[in-house]
Amino acid sequence: MKKLNIDTLSVSEICLGAMNFGSTTAKEDAYRVLDAFLDMGGNFIDTSNNYAHWVPGCTGDESETLLGEWLKERGCRDKVVLATKVGFDRKGVGAGLKKEQITYWIEQSLKKLGTDYIDLYYAHSDDMNTPQEESLAAFDSLIRQGKVRVLGASNFDTWRLAEANMVAKSQGLSPYSVMQQRFSYLFSKSDVAPKYLFNEYTSRERLRFLADKNMPLVTYSCLLKGGYENPARMPEEYIAGERYEALLHMAKEKGVSPSALVVAWLRNVHRCPGFPTVLPLFSVSSIAHLEENCKGASLSLSDEELAILNKA
Ligand SMILES: NC(=O)c1ccc[n+]([C@@H]2O[C@H](COP(=O)([O-])OP(=O)(O)OC[C@H]3O[C@@H](n4cnc5c(N)ncnc54)[C@H](OP(=O)(O)O)[C@@H]3O)[C@@H](O)[C@H]2O)c1
Repeated sequence: MKKLNIDTLSVSEICLGAMNFGSTTAKEDAYRVLDAFLDMGGNFIDTSNNYAHWVPGCTGDESETLLGEWLKERGCRDKVVLATKVGFDRKGVGAGLKKEQITYWIEQSLKKLGTDYIDLYYAHSDDMNTPQEESLAAFDSLIRQGKVRVLGASNFDTWRLAEANMVAKSQGLSPYSVMQQRFSYLFSKSDVAPKYLFNEYTSRERLRFLADKNMPLVTYSCLLKGGYENPARMPEEYIAGERYEALLHMAKEKGVSPSALVVAWLRNVHRCPGFPTVLPLFSVSSIAHLEENCKGASLSLSDEELAILNKA
């Protein structure tokens, strides 16, 4: 699998989401998927300090704990680029990016993951109640201590990310080098019934901002929960219609699944004006789904095919 640079990190162009590992995805299945991902040349793995606290009976420690055990059993820490996050809530408490929250949760994540450094540490969501200077100074201190290599921001409005990086520049602090946000091929009706105060979706404006700043976009939930394969699973905020028909038509022509074609479109869309580098981030619980989706990592798209998909 091809590698791309995020700041000083060399990551596979596909990122494997570990959100469900240890909760709704059993340990044996998670290990099989993780082993297969590494065998396919993948190295970029995404988790968080709160996955998956919303599953009945879970605390939010499950995903990091499982990954820590897998890394230890396989002895492969140096082969993996590990991304985790801080800032979202766990069972309704703990949300925020105050200095004491960041300094507390990094230690918990390092312990659970059984490592002394995190490659990519995300602010999981914006915290409008804490000055950006405070959060950035806390993150910068983790970098200076060698506990974190690169910073990312997730679920920030574009203007807040721009503001954060201006603050970082003016104060000589490490900036956010990558954004993780919800984005896929189909458009969403996101502004009609927003779930959060911030906008988790990726608009054209956000895309142009990231392209201009040369900042990669890691796209979460990009396979719409399996909805490209089975529209009954598609979250209701997505608009299928003619754009979905165009995707299905081209996938059939090219002999791949719609999900693989979405992965290929995301990987290639930076070739079109106004789009940044995009890295698909998805979850799977079986090797069959992993292999199917990763066909999109070697699928080439001509300029004409990209134009057809973009215009649909
Ligand atoms: N920053 C954030 O706020 C945030 C929010 C949400 C998620 N994330 C990250 O993004 C990752 C992915 O998000 P997600 O799980 O919400 O969305 P997703 O990857 O779009 O959806 C995962 C679902 O799609 C199914 N699927 C994948 N490939 C398939 C295929 N070829 N055929 C049929 N079904 C397929 C999986 O089924 P199977 O399990 O049956 O394979 C799984 O149920 C998470 O693991 C997490 O790391 C970040």
